[in-house]
Amino acid sequence: MQVIGMAGRKGCILDVSGVNKYYNRGLPSEVHVLRDVNICFDAGSFVSIMGPSGSGKTTLLDIIGCLMKPSTGTVYLNGVDTGSLDDNELARIRGRTIGFIFQQYNLVPSFTALENVELAMRVVGKPKALARKRARELLETVGLSHRLNNRPNQMSGGEQQRVAIARALANEPRIILGDEPTGNLDTRTGDRILGLLRRLNREDGYTIIVVTHDQDVSRAADRVVRLRDGSVVGGARKR
Ligand SMILES: Nc1ncnc2c1ncn2[C@@H]1O[C@H](COP(=O)(O)OP(=O)(O)OP(=O)(O)O)[C@@H](O)[C@H]1O
Ligand SMILES: [Mg+2]
Repeated sequence: MQVIGMAGRKGCILDVSGVNKYYNRGLPSEVHVLRDVNICFDAGSFVSIMGPSGSGKTTLLDIIGCLMKPSTGTVYLNGVDTGSLDDNELARIRGRTIGFIFQQYNLVPSFTALENVELAMRVVGKPKALARKRARELLETVGLSHRLNNRPNQMSGGEQQRVAIARALANEPRIILGDEPTGNLDTRTGDRILGLLRRLNREDGYTIIVVTHDQDVSRAADRVVRLRDGSVVGGARKR
């Protein structure tokens, strides 16, 4: 049996420890995108990540969400050293623990809202009837019970984003990660999405980590992590 590395600081649902990331390492085009990043994300917190374009926010979010491996350093998820997991174990733990809201929604264009949310549950083996029932409930929660059978191109940006949120919640992850979840939305729809994220955080205990340029989102957060040129320049826990 493989021994899974356990560690990370206590109370951190996600512990980013000594992380560096290079793109094109060893080539003339090498870029050092994240520099010795250390962040403990408290369970149940709402954290926003801010910084200028190119400062490494999306890279950090991809590493936090275990979609990408750091060049050096470790990400502990619930105390588990994610670097010690093989791809299958990682995919399984990630699928159960983390829900992603991508900036461009990433919905399946030929599927209806209901089918898009259902799909997330079907891929982890949930029976069809159960998946359908829960997909309906989730879409109702995000205010889309009147759009169940619409495909993405038959919905507004805000509606598609809400489908993406319903999908992110489908497998009851403890953590929601969002890359500019209000980025493409008008103010009113953005407020609505923000309200939903706050409610999920306050009432249901989700840990929420969002990359954002939106001051309203940052104001709502318990903590703002600021990145500049790949370094954390504010908001990180002291070691
Ligand atoms: N696959 C890649 N290969 C090489 N360089 C990359 C790659 N992805 C990103 N970069 C570079 O890494 C740096 C950080 O990119 P990243 O996408 O993390 O920034 P960001 O803070 O999310 O920016 P934005 O606010 O514009 O989305 C940038 O200089 C970018 O050009
Ligand atoms: Mg980005």
